[in-house]
Amino acid sequence: MSSTRRAFLQRAGALALGASGIYDLADVIPANPAHASSTGRRAPPPEQHVLGEMRLVRDNGIDVVVPPLHHQVVTARLRIDPTRSSLRAAQAELEAALQQLEERYRPSPSGLAVVVAWGLSYFSTYVPMLADSTAFPLYLPVDKRASINTRSADGPVLALTDAIAFPSDPPDLVLEQNDVVFHFQSDHLEQVSAGAQEVIRRLDGMFELTSVRKGFVGGGFGGGASLPKRLATAAGVPGAASIPERAELFLGFTSTQHASLGSGRIVNFETIPGLTDQWPRGYFRHGTTMHLSHIFEDLERWYSRFDFSERVERMFRPGLAVKPGTLTVSEGPHDLESTSRLVRDGRTRLAVGHSASMQPANRVRRSFVDNYGVRVAKGAAILQRADFNTLDNPFFWTAQATQDRHHDTPAAGLHFIAFAPTSDTLTRVRLAMDGHYPDGTTLPTWWGGPHQAGEGFNAILTPTHRQNFLVPPRRHRSFPLAERV
Ligand code: HEM
Repeated sequence: MSSTRRAFLQRAGALALGASGIYDLADVIPANPAHASSTGRRAPPPEQHVLGEMRLVRDNGIDVVVPPLHHQVVTARLRIDPTRSSLRAAQAELEAALQQLEERYRPSPSGLAVVVAWGLSYFSTYVPMLADSTAFPLYLPVDKRASINTRSADGPVLALTDAIAFPSDPPDLVLEQNDVVFHFQSDHLEQVSAGAQEVIRRLDGMFELTSVRKGFVGGGFGGGASLPKRLATAAGVPGAASIPERAELFLGFTSTQHASLGSGRIVNFETIPGLTDQWPRGYFRHGTTMHLSHIFEDLERWYSRFDFSERVERMFRPGLAVKPGTLTVSEGPHDLESTSRLVRDGRTRLAVGHSASMQPANRVRRSFVDNYGVRVAKGAAILQRADFNTLDNPFFWTAQATQDRHHDTPAAGLHFIAFAPTSDTLTRVRLAMDGHYPDGTTLPTWWGGPHQAGEGFNAILTPTHRQNFLVPPRRHRSFPLAERV
């Protein structure tokens, strides 16, 4: 690509960070009431992925975590010389930019939370060898559980591995290779845009932007119409009229129940005993892995093909008696599905629920005490999901419009983000979503297989892009290991 064209594209990308297009309409929802304690200044947590002051509300008698309303994801490749001096200069510049943001905004919904994560390509290209002669990838966290299970000749399995295509993924899925990703989130749209512009502008020339992705979630817990309802209606996407008024997400059900989200430090590399090699003093402790994917959602099919109880069956599990119009359905430790019941449901009821399908892989099987001495009860969830709806098609802006099959017309979808202690943990849960379990159980393909013959939850989803990233602890978030090269 000519340098002029590249420069033109990068200028367009930088403009996209501030532009809001259809998302302008998102700024109508008053921000969630800031927490009283946001006046006091506390040191941010050592984890980037842990947000302070997350609100809990009760909906239908169930505790629900209220995620920030507005989100922006920026992916990029680096454009710096892979030398010690330029790497360290970039590290200092990025850290200064992030600290400046933190001085202005608390890492919480009422402020601005920023997560910076790095692809495998960053480590292989820019950190081929540390000064102590430790070569890539030997300085990266090891997944001890997966290493035992695979015993591969290529040595231990890393906690961060490249994303794979899953059984229900379409053949044209793009497995991305970005060096770095930023996730900005806040209840204030302007703070999301300002934060993104500031970081990217300050590091002008160091990053080659590859995509800008925008979205929203919730906004209806206070009683008014939610952002998904308002924006889908404003954009005129098919099926928008059927979205329940206060729904947290386009598909009508609350997906941030406290009980079904991993809590505290459970997704940190070092927390679960024996899972990785980062306890007690690993360089990446307080870090985690992040999965990023984009999924189109066929709202029209979801609301026209299935009535309310059929939607409950497919989102949760068959046989649940739920009052029509309910948004939040209980998913506590006593509401869990076992693999044997999934197989039976698959055979007799011809439907298996989305969250039920993943519970065997996403819930703790036996209580244990974690490395911090905290007791984790049987049935506790592991994955921390931070997904949000979007009208991007598939991205708000991309430097590769043809490869990303980009269109300006709004399309209903989800930017899926999940934190997991290892990429293998995420893979296990996502395979379970397609009916493949770690113990070798596989649900009959007509259920879990490609598109489920049009009968299940996966049938209305079309994933388009995927990548796994390493989320360093806050102290090493900027160009991790540059100080050791
Ligand atoms: C359009 C896409 C999706 C939507 C609308 C969606 C929505 C939901 C909803 C409503 C729940 C149940 C409520 C809850 O338990 O909080 C749920 C649970 C869950 N979802 Fe999704 N989801 C989507 C995609 C995914 C994907 C791609 C994954 C990948 C791993 C995933 C992982 C999970 C997990 C782990 C649970 C909790 C299961 C448990 O109870 O342990 N979801 N999702």
